[in-house]
Amino acid sequence: MEKTESKTNITRWVRPNILRMQPYSSAREEFKEFEKDYTFLDANENPFNTKVNRYPDPFQRKLKRLLSQQKDVQEDEILLGNGSDEVLDLIFRVFCEPAQDHIITLPPTYGMYKVLAETNNIVVREIPLTKDFQPNVSAILQSQTQNSKLLFICSPNNPTGNAIDERQIRELVEGFQGIVVIDEAYIDFSTTNSWVSRIGEYNNLIVTQTLSKAYGMAGIRLGICYASSEIIAFLNKIKPPYNINALTQEYAYEQLKDNSKVANAVDCIVSERDRMIAALQGLDTVEKIFPSNANFLLIRMDDAFRRYTELLECGIVVRNRSKLLNCENTLRITIGTPEENTKTIQVLYTLKR
Ligand SMILES: Cc1ncc(COP(=O)(O)O)c(C=O)c1O
Repeated sequence: MEKTESKTNITRWVRPNILRMQPYSSAREEFKEFEKDYTFLDANENPFNTKVNRYPDPFQRKLKRLLSQQKDVQEDEILLGNGSDEVLDLIFRVFCEPAQDHIITLPPTYGMYKVLAETNNIVVREIPLTKDFQPNVSAILQSQTQNSKLLFICSPNNPTGNAIDERQIRELVEGFQGIVVIDEAYIDFSTTNSWVSRIGEYNNLIVTQTLSKAYGMAGIRLGICYASSEIIAFLNKIKPPYNINALTQEYAYEQLKDNSKVANAVDCIVSERDRMIAALQGLDTVEKIFPSNANFLLIRMDDAFRRYTELLECGIVVRNRSKLLNCENTLRITIGTPEENTKTIQVLYTLKR
């Protein structure tokens, strides 16, 4: 990409109050050698050892060191959040001026973009995905104005499951004058490549990932943001000082050290996804199974509301996505364990049209 002068200077996207403000400086930030044997009387902690009586590292350096090696990025190109939902909220608050800026989303997509926009008093411009759930690139680029601050691309997309075409993402990253956020919560299940390796190429690119899906750690709440060190510095400026608790930092570190379990789980989920597709394809009640690069299937049923209730009566909870744009009569079914999937297939086989 030819970087224009205006695109290379990221401060033009940052809210003026964020540019001006002084960040909070925590005790653990001012005195960084907290792993050494000092007498710590600087943070009003309880001195008696409970294993968690001390504040955690505000910059999660041990964890970031490991992630930076595994993802081949610099430590200062990583920000960690209390789930990727916190990361997304920080992005809104750094870049979007309430009651002035707007964001662009591509529905049907992950519902939190809109919720966070409304929380932050930011208008949402929706440019629907096409019938095959790909972005309408020319409509998106034509609709942008100088107040179009963020464009959210979810790939693979929730709830449709498909990955967004790489060439179209490139056109959007290169043609959009604001910041493009690629939400890669489901990337580990996808045959497409992550955009993390390209954050050095595009200074208007933010990629978010999470430990909640393939990594099997939804309960510890750890979301990851990859972007240029300039963008990460602004997000760090406003994040709550100790947003990643000590237990999460330690547990994530221990789990991430050995990635083989994740690869095994992903392989199993992907092959179970194929088994589900093959098993459900011919059913009378199933009209269409949308292609998936994620750990779930979006399925158009004959009557999604009725099938949802019937599954529930058999103890199986799925998500009825029928109210979303272009998702009439659909259920979103997460791929479970082989036993859970077999049970779901068996129940669906018993349903009469
Ligand atoms: C596309 C997408 N992004 C982000 C999230 C939130 O992830 P986290 O658990 O890291 O907050 C989800 C959760 O379902 C999701 O589907």
